[in-house]
Amino acid sequence: MEHARHVFRVLFVLVVLVSGFTVFRTFLVPASYGFYGPYRYANVAQQAARAPRHGGPESCEKCHPKQYGKRLAGVHKKVSCEVCHGPVAIHAEGGKRIAAMPMEKTFKLCARCHAKLESRPKEFPQVVLEEHVNAKLEGGICLDCHDPHDPTP
Ligand code: HEC
Ligand code: HEC
Ligand code: HEC
Ligand code: HEC
Repeated sequence: MEHARHVFRVLFVLVVLVSGFTVFRTFLVPASYGFYGPYRYANVAQQAARAPRHGGPESCEKCHPKQYGKRLAGVHKKVSCEVCHGPVAIHAEGGKRIAAMPMEKTFKLCARCHAKLESRPKEFPQVVLEEHVNAKLEGGICLDCHDPHDPTP
């Protein structure tokens, strides 16, 4: 009988741990978790209610037909306007311009994609910036010779 006390102590600790775990779990797991699977079901409606911030190049076409057409005719036809500028949501809403659209005018914009890097695919057009410009690498020097919307010189 003396040894039964040890067993009861272990059992007691186990019961406390298991019930503690169960109580905390009910508080910590979100209400709709596991409804249809291992995810929070309420999140589906929450995500669907969010308005997209990006609209794709087509969202710029009506207000900027010149830049839109130029880009489609040139080598940047697969580069989205919003990659170089910003999401349409910060700039236009309900057919009106609501705020300025960012315009990165320095060489850093072009360098992001065209600076020579060993890790880039060989066939992707890239240049050693300093050698290519043959002048001091500063400001909007790339735009002296390249139009960002149709950059073939
Ligand atoms: C490769 C990057 C790049 C892409 C892609 C791009 N732009 Fe631009 N955009 C620029 C830069 C850089 C300027 C600033 C040009 C300057 O000041 O000479 C500019 C300027 C503009 C301007 C100001 C007027 C002008 O022409 O200078 C408008 C409007 C514009 N872009 C709209 C667009 C639209 C619409 C698209 C897609 C159809 C687009 N851009 C795609 C880089 C880009
Ligand atoms: C509802 C019309 C509208 C839409 C849609 C729109 N813009 Fe504009 N945007 C304007 C107006 C108006 C201006 C100011 C006059 C101008 O430069 O043509 C402007 C100016 C700009 C400028 C110059 C900086 C500035 O804010 O003055 C850039 C760059 C530009 N837009 C890019 C874009 C891009 C990229 C898209 C698509 C993602 C876009 N715009 C969608 C109306 C629009
Ligand atoms: C988001 C990435 C991105 C940015 C930023 C970007 N470009 Fe491009 N550029 C491309 C892609 C993609 C191509 C098409 C490559 C192809 O056809 O294989 C391209 C093609 C070109 C080409 C034609 C190369 C050739 O041999 O056909 C030139 C020139 C060029 N870009 C210059 C510029 C300049 C100047 C800027 C800055 C105003 C710039 N690019 C910004 C992605 C970018
Ligand atoms: C003085 C004029 C001039 C300036 C400034 C200039 N370029 Fe060029 N770029 C050219 C000419 C001309 C070509 C076509 C001949 C060649 O490939 O060298 C060209 C070609 C390119 C190509 C295509 C290379 C290829 O392998 O097909 C890329 C990419 C490019 N330039 C990016 C840039 C970037 C980025 C800047 C700014 C850091 C810049 N250029 C500044 C004149 C210029």
